[in-house]
Amino acid sequence: MHFRSSIYRERLHSLRRVLGEFRGGLWGALSASQRRRLFFVSGLVALGAGVQGLSPLALTTAVDNLTSGNLSFALLAALAYAGMAGTSRALRQGVSLAYGTVARGFERDLYRQAYAHALALPHAVHLDRRAGELARTVTDGVRGWRRMLDAAVFTALPFVVEVGTVCAVLISAAVPSSILGVLLAFVLIYGLVFHRGILEQRGSFRTAAKADAEAQGVASDALANEETVKLFTREALVEESIGKAFARGGAAWDAYNRIVAVNGLLLSLIFTFALGATLLLAAREVAAGRLSAGGFVLVNAYVLQVVGPVERLGQMAREMVQGLDLTARLRSLMAEPDEAALSPGTRTLPGQGPLTLTIQDLAFGYDPRRPVLHGISLVIPAGRTLALVGRSGSGKSTLARLICSLYRPDSGALQLDDVPISDLSLSALRSAVAVVPQDTVLLHDTLRANLLFARPEASEREMLDAARVAGLEPVVEVLPEGWDTVVGERGLRLSGGEKQRVAIARAVLKGPRLLLLDEATASLDTRTEQAIQSSLDDAARGVTTLVIAHRLSTVRGADEIAVMEEGRIVERGRHEVLLAAGGRYAALWRAQENSAVVGRAIGRHGADDTSLRTSLSGLASDLNR
Ligand SMILES: Nc1ncnc2c1ncn2[C@@H]1O[C@H](COP(=O)(O)OP(=O)(O)O)[C@@H](O)[C@H]1O
Ligand SMILES: [Mg+2]
Repeated sequence: MHFRSSIYRERLHSLRRVLGEFRGGLWGALSASQRRRLFFVSGLVALGAGVQGLSPLALTTAVDNLTSGNLSFALLAALAYAGMAGTSRALRQGVSLAYGTVARGFERDLYRQAYAHALALPHAVHLDRRAGELARTVTDGVRGWRRMLDAAVFTALPFVVEVGTVCAVLISAAVPSSILGVLLAFVLIYGLVFHRGILEQRGSFRTAAKADAEAQGVASDALANEETVKLFTREALVEESIGKAFARGGAAWDAYNRIVAVNGLLLSLIFTFALGATLLLAAREVAAGRLSAGGFVLVNAYVLQVVGPVERLGQMAREMVQGLDLTARLRSLMAEPDEAALSPGTRTLPGQGPLTLTIQDLAFGYDPRRPVLHGISLVIPAGRTLALVGRSGSGKSTLARLICSLYRPDSGALQLDDVPISDLSLSALRSAVAVVPQDTVLLHDTLRANLLFARPEASEREMLDAARVAGLEPVVEVLPEGWDTVVGERGLRLSGGEKQRVAIARAVLKGPRLLLLDEATASLDTRTEQAIQSSLDDAARGVTTLVIAHRLSTVRGADEIAVMEEGRIVERGRHEVLLAAGGRYAALWRAQENSAVVGRAIGRHGADDTSLRTSLSGLASDLNR
């Protein structure tokens, strides 16, 4: 007993919390006019329920007047009955129309809020989640809130009004207590069985919904890997696993439907018994002269009518519970702190022009068990270029992400001019920095829109200048729709090198005070790289730049080169100095020279004459620059 009561207390507590959220989240999301409309809708609903609850009274009056021979009054009452039934139906139509706008507005606002919050969550949160999972969480959550709003307006409210009127009528009509007793017992039993059924259904619903979500996950993973699936000819395997996943969902829904059907059957049985018992009792009362014929009709009408609210109350419990389950993930998502909460800095960067980047003793690991960066210290004076080189996996991109505050360091300090990055507001920091990331993702929009995303107010001239610096012009020229070409979801319609050029153009267009190039030209062939490199050098002149490079030839001219190895800076200096020192950098340099020679040898066999010549001249100037 104690156990059960604590369960109920917990449930009550969580219900109260949810109601609080309901008020804060849902009610708060409504505009003043939406609230007025919701009040109006609720008024209509209450009116409809009241009319519905009172209508059997008119029928009773009609029957009683018929039996006593007062025909004209009986007709009047019958007309009133018809009018009441018609009114409550008409009200329902009006309600659904008015409610539609309120609910849609509410959904729209909720979607906007939820997606804004999802977008504001830390980068790490996004990486940890499967693609599509956040969107599904939001969609489910909005559906859940909608369900709860529907239930509150269309079930809870009419229940209160209807039960109130029914009780008032039954008591004032002096219905014999034996009948009232049976009616009450019926309502209780019915309610309890319904409640038990709902609990049972809840578990089953959760299992089924989870199986469904998993199946969706399997399917969207397959779609995300579409190219891999094709290239490994694994269609059959993928189809089979999708089929199996959906079959599991189907089986779970079958189980859920069975529970619903069995409970429905049980309830019909209880209902039949109650109707039989009350009518039997009422007939006896009529025979004994204690109840009029109209009273008999009233009892019948209310047995039928009392089922409605009780059933709807159960349905409401079910809708609320399902709504809660659906919103659970969205509610916890909304409770997750967003980036701004984790980085509460509010300072802005004073002045204009290039910034000095100072990194001191920086340490970081994505996972506390595995540090990735150890004691990194670097300074890039305003307007200078520092090149960061090192093997893949040594932590170069990680450092770039820390500079943009996509992650927070475990220890150490990052400063722009004299301001610690952690004191800056994220928008102040990120509007001063432009990044060309290692992998560029494009919006499913035109090339122009993708470029202007960096600075929507930029002029056509500025946009074209940025495109020229990035070597994007020849790409645009061959596209059938030029700047208005839609580049496809995630930029799949452009090659890696073309996307990279869009990313460079974006960064240039932004006009940053600190430029981060993370292997910005790695997907380009040597010749294009060289062409872009010189314009990039121009663009970077006077801008503080951190170049992360794989191909060392591209960073020979940097003011300083830092070699990174397993999360540590192991060497620093200018190209000639490092080469002469004969350390890690010199070894990397030699290794790349060798692979260039191998590349030439392969080219001699594989390529036709012109492309061979092109690549040879590219490589030669690569090496001799
Ligand atoms: N989001 C992440 N979560 C966990 N580990 C990561 C993540 N991103 C990168 N790493 C790990 O951190 C190390 C450094 O990666 P990265 O900075 O991308 O190297 P680089 O850019 O030098 O190739 C690698 O071992 C990589 O596996
Ligand atoms: Mg990298």
